[in-house]
Amino acid sequence: MNPEQSNSTVSRKQQHVELCLERDVTFRTKTAGFENFDFAYNALPEMNLEDANASTMFLGKHLRIPLMVSSMTGGYPDAERINAQLAELCQTYRLAMGVGSMRQALESTTHHSTFSVTRTYAPDIPICANIGAAEIAVMNDYKQLYTLIDLIRADALIIHLNPLQELLQPEGTPKYRGVLQGIERTVKELDIPVIVKEVGAGISASVAQRLLDVGVRIIDVAGAGGTSWAGVEILRNTKREAFAEFWDIGIPTAQCLLQVRELKKKTPFTLIASGGITNGVEMAKALGLGADLCGIARPLLQVLLNEGQHAAEKKILDWELQLRSVMFVTGVPTIQELHVALTPANTAKNKTTTTDIYGVY
Ligand SMILES: Cc1cc2nc3c(=O)[nH]c(=O)nc-3n(C[C@H](O)[C@H](O)[C@H](O)COP(=O)(O)O)c2cc1C
Repeated sequence: MNPEQSNSTVSRKQQHVELCLERDVTFRTKTAGFENFDFAYNALPEMNLEDANASTMFLGKHLRIPLMVSSMTGGYPDAERINAQLAELCQTYRLAMGVGSMRQALESTTHHSTFSVTRTYAPDIPICANIGAAEIAVMNDYKQLYTLIDLIRADALIIHLNPLQELLQPEGTPKYRGVLQGIERTVKELDIPVIVKEVGAGISASVAQRLLDVGVRIIDVAGAGGTSWAGVEILRNTKREAFAEFWDIGIPTAQCLLQVRELKKKTPFTLIASGGITNGVEMAKALGLGADLCGIARPLLQVLLNEGQHAAEKKILDWELQLRSVMFVTGVPTIQELHVALTPANTAKNKTTTTDIYGVY
């Protein structure tokens, strides 16, 4: 246990939530890319709205809609309240949930309850533990990792890749030598699945291929276009002027999906779309672009903490209705078939072609 390190992690996690609520930390010149896609309207859907079935299975558990509340918080006093509320929402609407980085829980046991509270409120939905790639690269005691996993009876462990964020974070660890080997070791050591995600700068096809090569079978592209973690750290970094140009670095989420889904032809794996998804129509587009599940982080946190639990519940129900409505007006009864409903958007600026969407077979 290192008290100094632990205190620094506690205050960083608190600042992250505060900045995400109080400042505009979205990408400035880049979008997630969903505006380049439209749906093929079907005037003869031959189904009723009630036939649109948006439910799915994830980590062996049933979800009402294909949505995960992406990893956000834990490890400082107020995180217990936030995680309890997020977990309650996920349990009520049967969504999956990721807790925030558990690095602080490795450093000290003081705030363990900020993570374990999720199981109190969400006994039987998929909940995922979370740890950074920099920790995994130097991990040699897997008992420690099992302590974290047991704390929330995790269904999977998420490892987040965030070299850009580590680079810009004042107290960051830009040490990525050995990460892939660490991931491979972790996949072999653990008896639960390992999910690898970015934090909003995206995963390319070549990175995804290297992850598949070491046995990872769930990848969350967490692409650019939503929350910019470079942006958050630039706001925290006193040397920020030197880094101003880094705010918008990253691969837009739609572009990640178009690249990474091609790898499914050779290796079956679960593809999660996140980063800049803000409503049910964008969820439908992400699913149409090959995702099996979507993730949303800051847009839900903002509603929950600024407007309350009731507003957050309403948001989730809106997202469900939007997704199912797209399915109805395109005549697609299941989320797995949404790819047939997608077309390039008909705008002067759009360079996307049908071949981009469907690929060349
Ligand atoms: C307040 C906050 C804290 C976050 N902390 C973590 C974290 O600890 N671990 C992680 O993998 N991702 C973390 N993220 C990143 C999100 O999981 C997500 O990948 C990213 O914000 C992009 O999604 P969005 O555009 O929906 O916000 C955090 C996001 C927010 C808003």
